[in-house]
Amino acid sequence: MNCRISGKKLSIVNDFGKQPLGNGFLNKEDFDNEFFFNMKTGFCNESKMFQLIEQPNPKKMFHENYAFFSSSSENMKEHFRNWSNQIIKSIEKKNDPFIIELGCNDGIFLENIRDNNIRHLGIEPSANVAQVAKNKDINVITEFFNANVANKIKDQNGKADYFISANVMCHIPHILDVAKGIELLLNENGILVFEDPYLGSVINKTSYDQIYDEHVYLFSAHSVNYLFNKVNMELIKLEPQSTHGGSMRYTLGKIGKYQKDLSVEYYLNLEKKDGVENYEKMLDFNNNVLKHKNEFNKILNKIKKENLNICGYAATSKSTTMLNYCQINSKIIDYIFDTTDIKIGKFSPGTHIPIKDMKKFKESDYKYSVLFAWNHQKEIMEKETNYMNNGGRWIIFQPEIKII
Ligand code: TYD
Repeated sequence: MNCRISGKKLSIVNDFGKQPLGNGFLNKEDFDNEFFFNMKTGFCNESKMFQLIEQPNPKKMFHENYAFFSSSSENMKEHFRNWSNQIIKSIEKKNDPFIIELGCNDGIFLENIRDNNIRHLGIEPSANVAQVAKNKDINVITEFFNANVANKIKDQNGKADYFISANVMCHIPHILDVAKGIELLLNENGILVFEDPYLGSVINKTSYDQIYDEHVYLFSAHSVNYLFNKVNMELIKLEPQSTHGGSMRYTLGKIGKYQKDLSVEYYLNLEKKDGVENYEKMLDFNNNVLKHKNEFNKILNKIKKENLNICGYAATSKSTTMLNYCQINSKIIDYIFDTTDIKIGKFSPGTHIPIKDMKKFKESDYKYSVLFAWNHQKEIMEKETNYMNNGGRWIIFQPEIKII
């Protein structure tokens, strides 16, 4: 398999074996027809892009029953409100500015833009989440974005001042065509800002659960610059974010249009120093993944030997990789509690652990809960103080495996 950006041969990094869809929560009657694919990752020495070798067809993942709703976390709502406020401020003096968001989900970012009467367009291929945004009077088209769609949008709306995306660009295999579409949609001084889980954080934390069918890429400053240089754009700023357990916000403009912020050189140098652009480092990462798996299984098996029950907290897409890779099923974890209607009553992809309504978590008396939504640890600890006061213990696996 060759790199989707450079066309050069990929070097294999991880082999997670057969994996189902990260968001493929399913009913019992669908167990026999469940979809699996071989999940391996590779690294390109030329583009420095970390990527899945094989990715299921996007239509299998993003559709009218998509299970991820961005607004399920209060912290994320605040994150998007702050970010949209920054953007609104920066275009205060512009006449009739136009903002496009790729993968607007339920409108978590665009609702503030709409409240400020700014011309906007969301592009969202998953019809059910797009409908939630439409119900909030946000302008949305339900499409998979590419250069053709970009041309249509340009003809109907003109060019944009901002092109925004959060936790979406890393989902798109034909990213080079998307980059071309973005470049042609942005006006001369137009700016692309997007954020996604950061390869450097995943490697430092061994947070391999960020790798699943939807995340075809894990970006770095090096790989993003390589990719966008191909369409006459360059990095002008990098800002680390705490969301999704360690993300990076990338700001790009057309080549030569903006003076580069010092953060660009800083992160390019840091990645060289830390080896984030080096295949040897990827092999170290793979060794750490294997160690993490063994340690995690050891801790769960020890608790089961003492005949104590374990539940999971939050049926995240990330947990799919961990559960399947570590082969943890309902013999080890009885239930996973979650707040999302579309997941409740279904079973976890591949491992078939029942998903229960989070409201039932309070009534349950689980001694141990695995915190699958570790990226929301602060928010969850603040609202679940009773659980620990009543003797409950959290099994945490990020940034290290421990029981608290
Ligand atoms: P998140 O880590 O944002 O997502 P991902 O699916 O990308 O790994 O977790 C979202 C899931 O976590 C979603 O199913 C809702 C659930 N969740 C809860 O059940 N309770 C909570 O307090 C939070 C923050 C999330």
